[in-house]
Amino acid sequence: MIKVGIIGVGTVGTSVVQILKDNADIISARAGIDIVATRGVVKNLKKERAIELLLTDNVDDVLDDPEIDIVVELMGGVEEAFEVVKRALRNGKAVVTANKALLAYHRYELQEIAQDLAFEYEASVAGGIPIINALRDGLSANHIESILGIMNGTSNYMMTKMAKEGVAYEAILKEAQALGYAEADPTFDVGGFDAAHKLLILASIAYGIDAKPEDILIEGIDKVTQDDISFAQEFGYAIKLLGIAKKDGSEVELRVHASLISKDEMIAKIDGVMNAISVVGDKVGETLYYGPGAGGDATASAVVANIIDIARSGKSTPMLGFDKALKGKLTLKPADMIESKYYLRINVSDKTGVLARIAKIFEDNNISIETMLQRPASSDSANLLISTHTAVEKDIQKMIKEIAALDFVNSTPVMIRIV
Ligand code: HSE
Repeated sequence: MIKVGIIGVGTVGTSVVQILKDNADIISARAGIDIVATRGVVKNLKKERAIELLLTDNVDDVLDDPEIDIVVELMGGVEEAFEVVKRALRNGKAVVTANKALLAYHRYELQEIAQDLAFEYEASVAGGIPIINALRDGLSANHIESILGIMNGTSNYMMTKMAKEGVAYEAILKEAQALGYAEADPTFDVGGFDAAHKLLILASIAYGIDAKPEDILIEGIDKVTQDDISFAQEFGYAIKLLGIAKKDGSEVELRVHASLISKDEMIAKIDGVMNAISVVGDKVGETLYYGPGAGGDATASAVVANIIDIARSGKSTPMLGFDKALKGKLTLKPADMIESKYYLRINVSDKTGVLARIAKIFEDNNISIETMLQRPASSDSANLLISTHTAVEKDIQKMIKEIAALDFVNSTPVMIRIV
């Protein structure tokens, strides 16, 4: 029998215990051995929980229990979880984690400590979608040309509701929190950081890139308004928070931001809390992975899959670490060298000559306008909604600063990249 200790018995931990129980028949058939959760660590022992599991508030009761084979880390956070996972590995236990923030910072160090011990994290990216397995296994014959996708269910849920029902931002965020999709601190969702953590994990596996969140371009959906959504609809786009990794020669660009994406693309049609990730391999072409990216059961499904994998193959035969052999072969492209098409929303005083002066600044910066709309914003101001042809990030950023400094421009222009 394989014994599992769970550190952090919240929404996902509770589902892990439930799945191990509900699906015990199929799980033991697939693992070739029975798997039981024997202990859970929680912060508050007094809280009512609808599970049958021996609980403790002392992490040592799991980490130092010689009977426990696999430690499942679901406590969240970075440094405290890092210490816990290190101790578990040093005590010879296999580890399964869903903690993307931990992996975004310490994945290579933990893999180094794990050595031959199993250290698995399928649930850390896109919840129930087996995307890590796909990159490591199914696509292992390919150079990965790009990874592009919706990696945060909360912001996709919010953008869908804003676009389809015109619901206000704050109200939908509260709804996403109530449904258990959002992070404990929802700025991780709407600010793009959660998606960035996931993108960095995928980039390690696909490219051996050891970047940290601070090294890459991360923006969220927090500046998107109904004006942007109606521009998008008029010009045949959807707005999605996308994580993008793209190989360009010996460089890889990594970025997370709200994106205008053609409505004809499959990713543009992914609504609600669902995630979808497109991976292009040099031999296979484009492949697309779709499924629930958040929620207790969906995330726990991936956690339990890792537990089964370890039980089946033995806890000293890992599913492969972060790709050390690839590390250092490709470098991170500087964020200001990224090339894209751009959309800008510029709120201006509605006066004679304003448009001509804006157009002149575009010309001076050698940035070519593709489409333009003007929408009244108040009795004496208007929003200019402008999309550009392909430009370089640093040129756009410079131009935005120049536009923001103009006396007839009322606030810093909002920019959304077009993918
Ligand atoms: N808050 C995350 C999301 C949960 O909304 O996608 C899954 O990582």
